Amino acid sequence: MKVNLDKMRLKLETEANLFFELEKIEDKIKFLLRFAILAPSTHNTQPWLFKVTDNSCLVFLNPKLKLKYADAKNRDIYISIGCAIENLLIAAQYYGLEGKVTYKDSEDNLVATISFSENIEKRELESLEKTILYRVNSRGPFTDEKIPDIFLEHLNQIFLENHAENDIQVHFIKEKNDVKKIAELTQLGMKIAHSNKDFRQEMSRWIVNNYTRRRDGMIGYSMNMPGPISLLVSKVVRFFNMGKIMGKLNYMSVSSAPLICVFTAPDLKTETWLKIGRLVERLTLELQKENFSTSIYLASVEMGDLYKEIQNILKTSSLPQFVFASGFMDKTFKTTPRHELEEKLLN
Ligand SMILES: Cc1cc2nc3c(=O)[nH]c(=O)nc-3n(C[C@H](O)[C@H](O)[C@H](O)COP(=O)(O)O)c2cc1C
Repeated sequence: MKVNLDKMRLKLETEANLFFELEKIEDKIKFLLRFAILAPSTHNTQPWLFKVTDNSCLVFLNPKLKLKYADAKNRDIYISIGCAIENLLIAAQYYGLEGKVTYKDSEDNLVATISFSENIEKRELESLEKTILYRVNSRGPFTDEKIPDIFLEHLNQIFLENHAENDIQVHFIKEKNDVKKIAELTQLGMKIAHSNKDFRQEMSRWIVNNYTRRRDGMIGYSMNMPGPISLLVSKVVRFFNMGKIMGKLNYMSVSSAPLICVFTAPDLKTETWLKIGRLVERLTLELQKENFSTSIYLASVEMGDLYKEIQNILKTSSLPQFVFASGFMDKTFKTTPRHELEEKLLN
């Protein structure tokens, strides 16, 4: 997989050493937030807001960016913010800062506070900070190449050392039959989702064409669409039920994956979702650092009672909450746009 960077990421790549010229901790944290906002988010809504005071960063959820139909439980909005928090902490460690997270669940949409301290000794030079720039959610079929078991052991070790708390589990599914079953459930989930007009209408507002100046939403090229077609897709999704076609495409991609990662947890608490987001982002970066692609497919855990079928496959009573597929892809991808950090900073 080859990745071309958009302008924002190219700029950050060339300015990576500017951090060392900053003196005030507030400015350092703001610099690190440029990595946080590159995180994946549901429909690329970028639902985070940050407030930096002295050595702390307060992380808020932007309630205007909730997705009533695609994310009725509000799970995905918290998972997205968890991904951004993980990027922030990884970048901090690379630059010699240590971040301590306290999770919140307050009425003013504050979801976490992170306090930073200088800890040059723990600076991690073999970091994932560069992979944050190159991470993309790739869509499409995988090649036949397998992910070596030894690498999965490495991922499991990272999980055990850094994220094994709160009864969150990650299940690595490699068995072809099980992969196929999850692909079928994803296909069914897509059909259910797109049969709902409200879901389609909401989604169409977040599908944007390749020529747009918008800095959010799912851009056509990230869904493998050439420019002219990308101009039509939002309207087509809005007015026609494309569930059958989209389901089939998702089936083909998911069923070709050598690996599916399913994240389970027994509860539906906001803190758990933030932690799932952190784990998802960490494993995604570890995989992409080694040139594996990752593709998020949530229809099988979001729609109706399909999650129960996943529970049967995993032989667990814990709740499946997130799914991504991983493997090799023979394609070139381009990173997707983000709002400037300034638009996400509160005074
Ligand atoms: C919580 C969450 C849920 C997502 N669900 C899906 C999904 O079900 N299907 C899909 O194709 N992409 C899904 N995505 C991927 C986003 O659409 C993608 O992250 C966003 O468009 C930005 O693109 P990027 O990740 O390449 O930067 C999800 C991402 C997150 C963080």
